[in-house]
Amino acid sequence: MPSKIDFDNLSFSIMPADTMFLGRCKAEGIWDKGAYLPYGNISISPAAGVLNYGQGLFEGMKALRTKTGKLVLFRPAENGKRLAEGAQRVCMPAFPVDKFVEVVCEMVRRNAGFVPPYGKGSLYIRPCLWGTGAVLGVSPAPEYTFMVYASPVGLYFKTGFKPIKLEITREFHRAAPKGTGGVKFIGNYGGVMLPAQKTKANGFSECIYLDAREEKYIEEVGAANFFCVKGQTLLTPKLGSILPGITRKSVMQIAREVMGLTVIEKSLPVEEALAADEVFCSGTAAVVSPIGSITHEGRETVFNDFKVGKVTQALYDHLTRIQLCEEEDRFGWVVPAA
Ligand code: PLP
Ligand code: COI
Repeated sequence: MPSKIDFDNLSFSIMPADTMFLGRCKAEGIWDKGAYLPYGNISISPAAGVLNYGQGLFEGMKALRTKTGKLVLFRPAENGKRLAEGAQRVCMPAFPVDKFVEVVCEMVRRNAGFVPPYGKGSLYIRPCLWGTGAVLGVSPAPEYTFMVYASPVGLYFKTGFKPIKLEITREFHRAAPKGTGGVKFIGNYGGVMLPAQKTKANGFSECIYLDAREEKYIEEVGAANFFCVKGQTLLTPKLGSILPGITRKSVMQIAREVMGLTVIEKSLPVEEALAADEVFCSGTAAVVSPIGSITHEGRETVFNDFKVGKVTQALYDHLTRIQLCEEEDRFGWVVPAA
């Protein structure tokens, strides 16, 4: 492992691993074989579609080191599929899913020294798809780049696995019905920076977005999906303008098939969420993060006395144990990277 990395004090910030991947598509969806290169700046046209019109998507995934030292990835083909589906929405050529998985695994192998020791964090992998050809009119770029870089990371929420405080924003929407909220479109993220800054200044970890049509239903957190537990039922907002999270999908499957909970995806009214027994959010970066309170219109609702709820804990434990090969991988989710 590179000695310069302080694996004991990782945060969710960029500390680039040595090797990156860069592939290009010049015409008709045909990708070159790409190359693994030393991490560094790339040259790009000032008229690139991604710079001028935001024609770009990204993914986020983690490589983990198990107790026995194996390097593993969690459902990497799902990220590849989501990227390919998102590409359609923003008029980009898909990057083939099998090649996506191959590149991501090879990135882990080549950057193995950057995967933190067991229990200390993960190697966060960031695949990107960008329109890099020059355009002037608002139209798809003539050339595309698929890029993958990686960075060792620690926890996403600084509090660790301690319940966080969130606020429902009525000042901002994240996504419009029929917009781009359902894809991992780079523009979605520029738009949530100001709301996040404002809410953090008020002492919250992040904000929760409501649906843009009626402002009645919970959508999601800035970069994580929303769940609540009422009795033996797990509820989560239905797909549409939210990101179809891979952690979300996995949590639902564990809840249903391992824990025997009833799982309901629906338009989730704020009042119903506030009346829940437990609330949490999920994501690659966030994993399963318990929510201790939600503030809505100035009133704070506290869940489970700010303690991690039983269902949240069980889902976190089961998911992370599968991810670390400490639980039988009955769904075939874990892929050895090296
Ligand atoms: N919602 C948004 C807006 C996100 O950016 C993410 C992170 O990727 C998620 C949800 C969770 O998705 P996943 O579990 O696939 O990481
Ligand atoms: C992820 O969970 O992987 C994300 O992409 C969240 C974020 C850092 C944008």
